Amino acid sequence: MPRGFFITFEGLDGSGKSTQLRKLAQWLQEQGHRVTVTRQPGGTHVGDRIRALLLDSKTENVAPETELGLMFADRAQSIAEVIRPALDRGDVVLCDRYTDSTEAYQGGGRELGSEIVLKLQAAMCGDLWPDLTILLLPDFDRSLERARRRNARGKGPDENRFEREDERFYRRVFDKYREIAAREPGRVVVIDGDGGIEDVHERVVQAVRGRLA
Ligand code: TYD
Repeated sequence: MPRGFFITFEGLDGSGKSTQLRKLAQWLQEQGHRVTVTRQPGGTHVGDRIRALLLDSKTENVAPETELGLMFADRAQSIAEVIRPALDRGDVVLCDRYTDSTEAYQGGGRELGSEIVLKLQAAMCGDLWPDLTILLLPDFDRSLERARRRNARGKGPDENRFEREDERFYRRVFDKYREIAAREPGRVVVIDGDGGIEDVHERVVQAVRGRLA
């Protein structure tokens, strides 16, 4: 059966991954690929409701395990409804965040550890891993500052529950991302440093071109 190609984007809030994902989608389409774009949490009817619940800063008192379970409930739905069908059609699937986010935020940030995340990934996601993960890790202080500035603008729905976490939380997320990248150098391409949008886009294209060929 033909199978497409699965790419995820990862990074801290404010790392610029959504911009890069859009630019890559456009580039892939220009190369003649059929592209499916989605995000987590969200991207399905059930997932959008989970997203609203999880990200709303008025949602209080969520046990870390509840958060973890909801992230995987969202992901299972996204795989069933969006990702698997698209891969079966032969599309290139671009997903804004995936299981590495859960390992970094719930495993690292919330200190649940990696093991439970990897077990749930196997149990609930058919152990579907991306073919390629682009991890955008600009300088820690710069990412944090960008995320906070974006919050302060207060546009759109209130999705700030995570972004209100303190610097120590984000440091743990950052460190866990680095650990994942070191553990899985074949899948995860790290783009660090503080390059401009076009410069980072070039590096993303290079990583994708090599593997799609
Ligand atoms: P996202 O919409 O990608 O936010 P941003 O554009 O700011 O990067 O993700 C929303 C938040 O959800 C983000 O703070 C990270 C968090 N998150 C987790 O904690 N665990 C997960 O498994 C996922 C997918 C997201």
